[in-house]
Amino acid sequence: MTHLTPIDIPAWVMDQPLPGEVRLWVNAARERIQAFQDRWDRPQIEQFVASDYELVYQTLAWIEQSQLAPGRRFLEWGCGFAVVCCLAAKLDFDVFGIEAEAVLIEEGRRTVTELQQPVELFEGNFLPPDSEWLADDPTLPSLGHPVPSAYGEIGMEIDDFAIVFAYPWPGEEDFLADVFARYAAPGALLLQFCGPYDLRLWRKGGRGALA
Ligand SMILES: C[S@@+](CC[C@H](N)C(=O)[O-])C[C@H]1O[C@@H](n2cnc3c(N)ncnc32)[C@H](O)[C@@H]1O
Repeated sequence: MTHLTPIDIPAWVMDQPLPGEVRLWVNAARERIQAFQDRWDRPQIEQFVASDYELVYQTLAWIEQSQLAPGRRFLEWGCGFAVVCCLAAKLDFDVFGIEAEAVLIEEGRRTVTELQQPVELFEGNFLPPDSEWLADDPTLPSLGHPVPSAYGEIGMEIDDFAIVFAYPWPGEEDFLADVFARYAAPGALLLQFCGPYDLRLWRKGGRGALA
């Protein structure tokens, strides 16, 4: 398996001030997400849980200021309401999001429209075809989506992206890291939100250059 090199995220990143507009976006998104999750008249999407958008923004801003990414193309695996996608677009990344659940893609499109961000969303599977064998547990939640892989429709592969962001279900961190290690370009970054105050960043192998 290709090597992933961990990169320490400095603790001061979480003390960095947020732009007022980002704060407004995040608060409005949280209200919509709460209302979505409170609805009783349709099945809950149990796999959707929002990450810590403030911390993700602060970390992406640090990645961008430190020029850690080998390019501008950003992909969110399982983008839900597409809030992280919009935050990455605000930092001038070229942003794509993939989400398996149709109802969430609809909510994500609403976020993108309301915030007027140049984000492209795709309904489909973020796992590349034939990557499921990398999982040692066949019951992992991200394996269960009966939708085709989205890369054909995007017209790009994982190795076209400089940064991938994911919020894995607990216990899936290693599987998603293995998928990234196998399919991403050398030098690309993987950022995972793994729970409160727990963001983890890796680079695949050595530092490369991507468009
Ligand atoms: C924990 S939620 C995180 C949502 C979003 N990234 C955020 O931070 O707010 C994980 C999301 O990934 C989606 N998902 C899980 N496995 C997937 C797969 N194989 N392909 C596409 N989406 C998937 C779920 O439907 C869910 O919306």
